[in-house]
Amino acid sequence: MFCDTHCHLFKEYYENIEEILQSAKDNMVNRYIVAGCDSKTNREVLNLLKVKEIYGCLGIHPEEVCRYTEEDLEFIEENLNQKKIIAIGEIGLDYHYDKETKQKQMELFERQLKLAELSQKPVVIHSREATNDTIEILKKYNVRGVIHSFSGSLEVANIYIKMGFLLGINGVITFKNSHLKEVIEKLDLSSIILETDSPYLTPTPFRGKPNDPSKVKTIAEYICNLKHISMEELANITNQNIKRLFDI
Ligand code: NI
Repeated sequence: MFCDTHCHLFKEYYENIEEILQSAKDNMVNRYIVAGCDSKTNREVLNLLKVKEIYGCLGIHPEEVCRYTEEDLEFIEENLNQKKIIAIGEIGLDYHYDKETKQKQMELFERQLKLAELSQKPVVIHSREATNDTIEILKKYNVRGVIHSFSGSLEVANIYIKMGFLLGINGVITFKNSHLKEVIEKLDLSSIILETDSPYLTPTPFRGKPNDPSKVKTIAEYICNLKHISMEELANITNQNIKRLFDI
């Protein structure tokens, strides 16, 4: 069985979460790490922890940089020690839409990295069009974690791996115009974990529909074909990788 290591199972996207979890279970997926992004979703993460198979991370997403408050950061700090909160995330830098907030984003990112350092929790990193700054900032902190939704080059992959990070691989690998498959072909599987980033990034051939955790199976099948291994082998390797990083 697989774990969806990054999804957003929130009410605004899914009417019936139980149904979503059942369909995932029917497709070899039985554990979930739900990532918060802002004050509202961080609260929802805490609420979801009562589901046995769900683990959570708390964080403020870079796109929230103009909206978050001091209380939102305090909320994360106060709830980090809950048993099933296994990481700080998703946090990071996103220069795709907004380059004007670069400075503010870096500040918010570093504040949460300090929190991770202090609490010794792993981090879940969102980095979009911001690779150099992400690497330079991460170098300053004694943290480990995962580069969520990794889609960079082999060179960048190796930099992150050398720094002790895992790479979160999702439906992007199935996209026709993605170079991720060439990168994964050359990488050792000890560095990757699987995720969907649901409801986003639905893999081929389901594009156009909302994503959900059952699609980890589609991503896993794609990688098994690429690497000529069985689903069982891939599940074993990725579950070991998850165990190395997270307290699950
Ligand atoms: Ni996400």
